[in-house]
Amino acid sequence: MFITFEGVEGSGKSTQAKLLAELLTKIGHKVTLTREPGWGSFGELMRKIILDERDLELDPFSELCLFCADRAQHVRDFIKPKLQNGEIVICDRYFDSTVVYQGYGRKLDKRLVNKIAVASTLDLIPDVTFLLNLPVRAGLSRLQTRGEITKMDEEPLEFHELIRQGYMLIAKREPHRIKKINADREILEIHEDIKNFILELIPS
Ligand code: TYD
Repeated sequence: MFITFEGVEGSGKSTQAKLLAELLTKIGHKVTLTREPGWGSFGELMRKIILDERDLELDPFSELCLFCADRAQHVRDFIKPKLQNGEIVICDRYFDSTVVYQGYGRKLDKRLVNKIAVASTLDLIPDVTFLLNLPVRAGLSRLQTRGEITKMDEEPLEFHELIRQGYMLIAKREPHRIKKINADREILEIHEDIKNFILELIPS
């Protein structure tokens, strides 16, 4: 089973992905937790170019291609082999991030972005995607108390609003795969919802 987490900056995806991984491990599953962008040595380079190089102003199309290149390697060299090995893979961000950030945030042609983003999955679409839904301001203020700030986090508020709207639209388009979770609550309350949903799909 392949599970992904999505959401605006500071929505608590990483914390929830980790809690879910711990829960599934505890009940006896083999679980791999990973994230995008930045898996492996190729991904580390990509991540540095896309998110850390303050002096490099990337064209949105270059940015799109780099995120997708990172993903194709991640899927082929890491995620697919783990799934073939019978493991549950949980990924913090995946192709929906590209659809939303590059399509809605960077305003590239949405159909083109969708095509390239889907192609970068090498036909691996998640079984379930948890979309942690939180007002943009709440997420950004949570970021202030966290260490690492990337170029993307520094984008203006309007950019992040577009991201949130984009997520809402894709969730509407694919209600069977994308499960919206109210992330404006305590960590354990949010986890409880995710846990209940997943345990119905994966009997313990
Ligand atoms: P990261 O530091 O991993 O933070 P987060 O906790 O938000 O996941 O930053 C990744 C950033 O890259 C994040 O702002 C979303 C963005 N991104 C895209 O724009 N397109 C993509 O395809 C992916 C995977 C991420």
